[in-house]
Amino acid sequence: MKFFVDTADTNEIRELAATGLLDGVTTNPSLIHKSGRKFVEVVEEICGIVDGPVSAEVVALDHETMMKEAAVLRKIASNVCIKVPLTIDGLKTCKALTSEGTMVNVTLCFSANQALLAAKAGASFISPFVGRHDDNGFDGMKLIDDIRLIYDNYSFDTEILVASVRHPIHVLESAKIGADVMTAPPSVIKSLFNHVLTDKGIAGFLADWEKTGQSVL
Ligand code: E4P
Repeated sequence: MKFFVDTADTNEIRELAATGLLDGVTTNPSLIHKSGRKFVEVVEEICGIVDGPVSAEVVALDHETMMKEAAVLRKIASNVCIKVPLTIDGLKTCKALTSEGTMVNVTLCFSANQALLAAKAGASFISPFVGRHDDNGFDGMKLIDDIRLIYDNYSFDTEILVASVRHPIHVLESAKIGADVMTAPPSVIKSLFNHVLTDKGIAGFLADWEKTGQSVL
């Protein structure tokens, strides 16, 4: 499963990219607002840090303006992936862009039927929001399960990008279901490295090593 980080904070992105485990980045208008930076400038900087897809979201609601915004965004770098909302105009834009070879991430997906439409529109990625789904009393992971089944039934190439990930269990369940990608805030990705027994084990080994009086270097 590929790991994308869901942030527009370039320091966090640099730190995670240095682990060699980061496959891409997702941003959205709220994350750009949080960064306090200019949209195009921050996307350009992110594209210079990671080689994988960097999602940049259109903000227009109509197809014609979405296409104009996409034209500006995809000029930023070859790894820009245009993010469009799951609406009729969003999917029309998705079809037009992917037909000409531009990567598209269809966002704000909350049903398996919506995911089916996005795949038929040729989406490179579909982003079902599991956390927001859970928040509203639905089962986010069941949604991922259903989309996996449908995409496998018809051998769709669209990658399932689990979004709105809130905790390590979302990551674990995504991997068990066979999602292609998950995008999570930096804090969730960092938490995956941790285990109390790892810390305890290191402390024990180091205490004994000190007693040997040896050094490796
Ligand atoms: C994905 O691309 C979205 O930016 C993101 O996962 C939304 O997550 P949230 O529900 O935590 O805002």
